Amino acid sequence: GIYSIEAVKQYGDNYRRAGGRHSLSDYFTARYDSVIMEQRLKRNIVFADHDLATDQVFGEMHVILCRNVLIYFDRALQARVIRLFSDSLDMGGYLCLGTKESLRFSGQEETFDVINTPLRIFRKRQLLHNA
Ligand SMILES: C[S@@+](CC[C@H](N)C(=O)[O-])C[C@H]1O[C@@H](n2cnc3c(N)ncnc32)[C@H](O)[C@@H]1O
Repeated sequence: GIYSIEAVKQYGDNYRRAGGRHSLSDYFTARYDSVIMEQRLKRNIVFADHDLATDQVFGEMHVILCRNVLIYFDRALQARVIRLFSDSLDMGGYLCLGTKESLRFSGQEETFDVINTPLRIFRKRQLLHNA
């Protein structure tokens, strides 16, 4: 919950572009060259350890952000992790990877629609039901 003031300027722009109607500064306190997220927001966050190499499905998530982690894994582990993300996402849920990462070699390419190629944003497909 601590971010650099420089980064937060851009986050403020993103917040407004996403439809935010307040000021981001309503949600943090500035300290030197950092900002600290308000405790009332942090109370809503569950922090938990999860080992992508060994742990199982962690929920029914709407969004998973996992950036700059897969690049360190071999293909087999990448495939495991993408499967884990797929199994942990709701239908229509979003998966956001780092800009050097992809679903290639995961065997899961058909499970996701590509929403934004350069930003590596994918969306889990709805199941198609036979009539
Ligand atoms: C290069 S950092 C990326 C941090 C951040 N996501 C970012 O983009 O700035 C890689 C992160 O992967 C985490 N990591 C490495 N192996 C992991 C594993 N098996 N399960 C979960 N996280 C792991 C490390 O703890 C580290 O925080």
